Amino acid sequence: AEGDAEKGARVFKKCAACHAVGENAKNKVGPQLNGVVGRPWGAIEGYKYSKALVEMADGKVWDEETLTAYLTKPKEVIPKGKMAFAGLRKEADLVDVIAYMAQYKED
Ligand code: HEM
Repeated sequence: AEGDAEKGARVFKKCAACHAVGENAKNKVGPQLNGVVGRPWGAIEGYKYSKALVEMADGKVWDEETLTAYLTKPKEVIPKGKMAFAGLRKEADLVDVIAYMAQYKED
């Protein structure tokens, strides 16, 4: 299904306490997410990822499939990861928030 980036902007409010996107986005509790769709796992220099995420990265890339799994159940994808987020349940919210993030390219 095609995501709706405008609806995704509203979903992203759930992420924004910990993540920034857009011009001059800084790392917060979580890494900045510019260019995350298509980005290797754990790629932001200067952000301290959990050991669990770094060990699992192993060449993986954040794409529609891996983002959908992680954002649905973060603790199932990275059991000892440090993203303290319960996850999104609605299929529409998932595709919409991914479409929203895809607008922001790496700077
Ligand atoms: C990691 C997305 C909500 C804290 C990540 C990563 C993604 C992501 C894609 C991996 C980034 C990378 O490998 O560079 C999202 C989205 C959210 C959300 C789309 C909302 C739907 C949150 C919330 C928090 C949070 C609410 C804080 C309470 C973190 C942390 C990491 C992380 C600490 C690093 C995980 C680790 O090193 O194990 N997030 N996140 N995230 N996120 Fe989120």
